[in-house]
Amino acid sequence: MKLVVRLSLASLFAAGALFAGTPVRAEPNRVMFPENLDELVHYTTVRRGEVTEHIMTTREAIDAVRNGQPIPSGTHFVLVDYRDEEVYRYFVMEKGKGYGAEYEERRRTGDWQFQWFWPDRSINMDENTARCQSCHSSQEDSEYLFTGYRIPRFDGSPVE
Ligand code: HEC
Repeated sequence: MKLVVRLSLASLFAAGALFAGTPVRAEPNRVMFPENLDELVHYTTVRRGEVTEHIMTTREAIDAVRNGQPIPSGTHFVLVDYRDEEVYRYFVMEKGKGYGAEYEERRRTGDWQFQWFWPDRSINMDENTARCQSCHSSQEDSEYLFTGYRIPRFDGSPVE
């Protein structure tokens, strides 16, 4: 007898979550590490103790915020977290058509999804990105961004 076992990625992750118990672990989602990281515009820096965060996005997103337009689909916002001048991790938000529909209403953050990448660009599988969404949901009125309000003040050098 031949047993054909078909495992979808989704069921693998569901099983992983089951075995890991609660809290549910992170899953790869729609967020991809931005290929154009070097082309993103670094519009603000946040310093806290030994942590320095460089926050960046596309030129198109900056123009959209300035003009009071919705941020275009496909946009990445990246927070590069430096410790001792080395990249410690990347926090990434990506907006995409239908991204929000993949979550139930109370978790949903518009059409944004969130991900934590290590310096080698692998995903931190110990993080549950619902946490990211839960905190950023407070910024619903500004596209779920905490530092979007700084964009209009950006004149070429990162706003501090
Ligand atoms: C407890 C609240 C909280 C959680 C949880 C959180 N963030 Fe944030 N995030 C912030 C704040 C506040 C800022 C503004 C920068 C700062 O003050 O460090 C920010 C900034 C950002 C930015 C830059 C764009 C912006 O909103 O200004 C990105 C990208 C980001 N976070 C992604 C993530 C990801 C990915 C996760 C989960 C792995 C996450 N955040 C979890 C509060 C949070």
